[in-house]
Amino acid sequence: MSFSSFSQATDLPSWSALQEAYDTVGKSLVVKELFKEDPKRFEKLSRTFTNYDGSEILFDFSKNIINDDILALLVQLAKDAKIEDLRTAFFAGEKINFTEQRAVYHMALRNVSGKVMEVDGKDVTPEVHAVLKHMKEFSEQVRSGEWKGYTGKAIKSIVNIGIGGSDLGPVMVTEALKAYSKRDMDVHFVSNIDGTHIAEILRAVDPETTLFLVASKTFTTAETCTNANTAKAWFLEAAKDPAHIAKHFAALSTNAEEVAKFGIDTKNMFGFESWVGGRYSVWSAIGLSVVLYIGYENFEAFLKGAEAMDKHFTETPLEDNIPVLGGLLSVWYNNFFGAQTHLIAPFDQYLHRFPAYLQQLFMESNGKYINRGNEVVKYSTGAIIFGEPATNSQHSFFQLIHQGTKLIPADFIMAAQSQNPIEGNLHQRMLASNYFAQAEALMVGKTEEQVKAEGNPEDLVPHKVFQGNRPTTSILAQKITPAALGALIAYYEHFTFTEGAIWNINSFDQFGVELGKVLAKSIGKELDVADAVSSHDGSTNSLINQFKQWHA
Ligand code: F6P
Repeated sequence: MSFSSFSQATDLPSWSALQEAYDTVGKSLVVKELFKEDPKRFEKLSRTFTNYDGSEILFDFSKNIINDDILALLVQLAKDAKIEDLRTAFFAGEKINFTEQRAVYHMALRNVSGKVMEVDGKDVTPEVHAVLKHMKEFSEQVRSGEWKGYTGKAIKSIVNIGIGGSDLGPVMVTEALKAYSKRDMDVHFVSNIDGTHIAEILRAVDPETTLFLVASKTFTTAETCTNANTAKAWFLEAAKDPAHIAKHFAALSTNAEEVAKFGIDTKNMFGFESWVGGRYSVWSAIGLSVVLYIGYENFEAFLKGAEAMDKHFTETPLEDNIPVLGGLLSVWYNNFFGAQTHLIAPFDQYLHRFPAYLQQLFMESNGKYINRGNEVVKYSTGAIIFGEPATNSQHSFFQLIHQGTKLIPADFIMAAQSQNPIEGNLHQRMLASNYFAQAEALMVGKTEEQVKAEGNPEDLVPHKVFQGNRPTTSILAQKITPAALGALIAYYEHFTFTEGAIWNINSFDQFGVELGKVLAKSIGKELDVADAVSSHDGSTNSLINQFKQWHA
């Protein structure tokens, strides 16, 4: 069953209505004028999310190129696409990842409140809570120093070895929540098969005080297995006795058999189920590095923040549903304005890996051209996600956002309170002034008259004009706490769900990553021998043969 009630999104009645609205009104809307016409625009087009702990996050959609009618049509599009039915199936543990016959049920991992959540008629909550308990106990032992390495010393360094979803989530979250960390413990991440990655990290840690977490859902990923074997060899060079592995290696995986084959005691394995997709796995045992780094209580607050966003997403009418609105705006820009990209700019140094994390979430989920009816889609899907923290990015690629020829919808994310309110909060106020100024400048622009009035020479005037009307969504949290971060991630998860529901694609498989892996495996064998290759196309043969010469 493909959970689809339509074929092409373009066939939906509201799609044609939106096309007409775009042609007649939408493409010429000028947002700064809309603010003048409607003093209530901000109130109408912003929404506040209240987290479980009472803290709030403000989502300001009012600087987007929409009016009330277009918003109503977008909400109608979500209804026509039967997003509510798909959401019900999603939260009921149905196998909405129909190409892999799997439920998509990472929400069950953050079901801290303990609701019954079933897959195949079985409540998965007890099992989820048992793993959380194991993570809690283990992390408390390690953090307190009770867990000793092979020479009797406490653990000081955590090295997570994983890639994709088994890396990006833990890296991003440990960075984002560094302020909550145990400062006497350092955490490292090895993902790249490039030997440089692990070599540099092994230089920085001590085998006597290091705990390796081998994080892999499948435990068959080539990069992770190779890096884990390298780490094991490095460790055994010092520790000698393989019995010591038990104190220095743990596995985060669904595959007990492969874990045992690797030599990790399955007592030190933290499991999860196949209904957890890699890009949604930070909430699972894959988050163990986060628990070790920030402590179980903070991790639980992170889960609860996401659970609160799940509640908002499932219970709020579509017109007020924050992730649904985010996803609908994305469809509006992608499919009617022809936007190809989406900028995510955190005004927060701790969030510096957030854009990279979201790249996997968005692009692995919605980078698909076959719809749920097995046909080629007749419209553009998944946006290209990119981003870097501002203010740094303002001094580099923001030029193109302001004066380039492309429309680039942007999300600006910031917290009112800094984790480091140094210099009487001067830094935070400067950061905030940029956060507000950039969104305002992108919307308001600068007219020819204004540039002339500044006394600029005639031939420079066009160069200094800013067209403006470049859309942004401003997301303002009170503070980036574990709870706020959990909610923010869940916001983007449900945002991509909304996009996928409208584009009528399966957002939950990722067959597109397979072809390259298969080719790399066979080319890997060719690289092991000296002979020249001739089995590929002219370019690939020549590149391989040149590599062989220089590599030797
Ligand atoms: O190659 C893509 C992918 O399958 C991702 O979806 C996943 O997050 C990553 O590889 C790592 O997979 P694993 O956790 O099984 O090692």
